Amino acid sequence: MTDFHWLSAIFSPTGGTAAITKAITGGHGHVVDLSVPAPVTPVADSTVLLAAAPVFGGRIPAVALERLAALSGNGPAVAVAVYGNRDYEDALLELSDALKAGGFQVIGAAAFVAQHSIAPTIAQGRPDQADLEAAANFGRAVLDKLAGPDPLTPVAVPGNTPYKDWKGVPFHPAAGESCISCGLCASRCPVGAIPAGSPKETDPERCITCMRCVSLCPRGARTIPAPALQATTAMLTEKAGVPRQPEFFL
Ligand SMILES: Cc1cc2nc3c(=O)[nH]c(=O)nc-3n(C[C@H](O)[C@H](O)[C@H](O)COP(=O)(O)O)c2cc1C
Repeated sequence: MTDFHWLSAIFSPTGGTAAITKAITGGHGHVVDLSVPAPVTPVADSTVLLAAAPVFGGRIPAVALERLAALSGNGPAVAVAVYGNRDYEDALLELSDALKAGGFQVIGAAAFVAQHSIAPTIAQGRPDQADLEAAANFGRAVLDKLAGPDPLTPVAVPGNTPYKDWKGVPFHPAAGESCISCGLCASRCPVGAIPAGSPKETDPERCITCMRCVSLCPRGARTIPAPALQATTAMLTEKAGVPRQPEFFL
């Protein structure tokens, strides 16, 4: 029997996806951070690849999929989508399809809820203790499946093709008066949308409104324009009010 090791490939601009992933693996194994370009990485058959990303508009952020493509192998993989309590729509299917295209055998998948990174009053405080326990249970169930008689049985995940159309949100974070141009946001932007030399600017062509700069600015200087934030929060309060629970596919 093979002893499997975790390898997590994570895109997590504001940390919700990373928290879920850590609970799934119990903090074991290596982590590939997809918020920077991933080096070409062959993945051993004795490794279970855990690919995890947030849901943006019912899809997986394109940059996460591009970077995930640097990992290739024939062994088992698990797809995890983390969403802000509205819906994950075609995201899990898209991530699962991407893993298959990389040669992996998708033996499990799960959708978890985390605080909405644009509108933090939605799913506030998630993942909570129950979410993290569910994530740990999912991780154990994956390893149990791998130790069982049919470890590589493929799993079906919900979603439709063609995937939901998603062109991004029409608003982007902007720097306010309290910005001191320290450049932290520019150094951590996953898509290079903030020029290092003038971090008060945001390139709207590159920005995917992932909210990392807003969440990490030590002075709270980067924000979404108030009217856009209010409208998004109002829409989500209506559409994402009832707490949703983790879902496993094994
Ligand atoms: C641009 C953008 C689009 C989003 N679209 C959705 C969505 O379609 N459905 C949903 O439930 N949550 C959506 N969310 C919320 C995120 O999926 C959720 O907050 C996730 O936990 C963020 O992951 P992170 O903390 O790892 O960055 C969106 C967030 C952003 C920034």
